[in-house]
Amino acid sequence: MTDMGSRHRFTFGLWTVGNPGRDPFGGPTRAPVDPVESVAKLAQLGAWGVNLHDEDLVPWGSSPSERDRIVARFKVALGESGLDVGMATTNLFAHPAFKDGAFTSNDRRVRRAAIGKAMRSIDLGAELGAEVYVFWGGREGTESGVAKDPRDALERYREAIDVLADYAVEQGYAMRFAIEPKPNEPRGDNFLPTVGHALHFVSTLQRPEMVGVNPEVAHDTMAGLSIHHAVGQALWAGKLFHIDLNSQRIGRYDQDYRFGAEDLKECFLLVRLLERAGYAGPLAFDAHAYRNESAEGVWEFARGCMATYTALAERARHFDALPEVQEALAAASTGELTVTTVGGDGAPVLKAEADSLDALAERGYFNERLDQLLVEALMGVR
Ligand code: NOJ
Ligand code: MG
Ligand code: MG
Repeated sequence: MTDMGSRHRFTFGLWTVGNPGRDPFGGPTRAPVDPVESVAKLAQLGAWGVNLHDEDLVPWGSSPSERDRIVARFKVALGESGLDVGMATTNLFAHPAFKDGAFTSNDRRVRRAAIGKAMRSIDLGAELGAEVYVFWGGREGTESGVAKDPRDALERYREAIDVLADYAVEQGYAMRFAIEPKPNEPRGDNFLPTVGHALHFVSTLQRPEMVGVNPEVAHDTMAGLSIHHAVGQALWAGKLFHIDLNSQRIGRYDQDYRFGAEDLKECFLLVRLLERAGYAGPLAFDAHAYRNESAEGVWEFARGCMATYTALAERARHFDALPEVQEALAAASTGELTVTTVGGDGAPVLKAEADSLDALAERGYFNERLDQLLVEALMGVR
């Protein structure tokens, strides 16, 4: 056992460490991993829990008795390892019937079957004690925009989430829901492409208090956006119910690299934000080992995700404790941004102050020094 996860609740999807290395151009390069083995290995490495899609545990087509046997065996593994289930979700993208979407398929029968599958999967999540239930859009989207009016699709998406929220409440399940945005892939254009879109969508629901967001580093990064800002807005809205950590280069396919493998500076800013905000939810690694990695290397990948988060949290604390950083933050007027702008002054005062713009244009904000201090703290030379 390491103490890596002693303070942070690190989790891994069964689909992450179990990723067999398949891509659109080639089949698996690693053998499937038994979820029971994943649980044991992750516990050894110091993780707090695991996450799963229904089908990561119970293969599609299993009979009810097979399902019960598989779930019972998995529960024994959880009990023995001490791991919890942080989050559960539904696979609404693999079955060929979902090729036109699930909750937003043009075929009403597919939409109804998708809601029923999600209900079964919510039951499974509740049985395993998941505190968050994630809705990633999967195939909700289009290649041919003319085939779906986005207003109709969003209305059906909203209907599905409303029905499922009612279902969870009626069953007495304590879980909260989190919408996970993604701009594209597998569809040409996915619905709810960014954290901002998802936050607005949540505000339209019948139980908005029960639903938050699950930002994924890779997903807003794919759209060229700052995940630091996206998560900041989710926190500001009180809607950061879960987070998927990984790494991604802008403009590429969904790479899902080990947390910190790309753009360490953005990862640093993200970790610093989460730590300063006191985010206490699960820290889920939704990533996978490189396709050329061996079965053994998968555990090196998992260790690396947790080690990097832990190190960045330490670097963030160190950075903020440096006197020169405090001076540079003050020089940048960072604290002044927390002070209310108008403070009760009326329009005549504010209009008169418009005359000060020429003088105000002279000042600098010392961001060069501040940012270089960040880079040096991150490199460990300060
Ligand atoms: C698979 C997606 O790739 C991932 O980003 C998402 O978090 C999970 N499914 C959960 O739905
Ligand atoms: Mg994800
Ligand atoms: Mg991803």
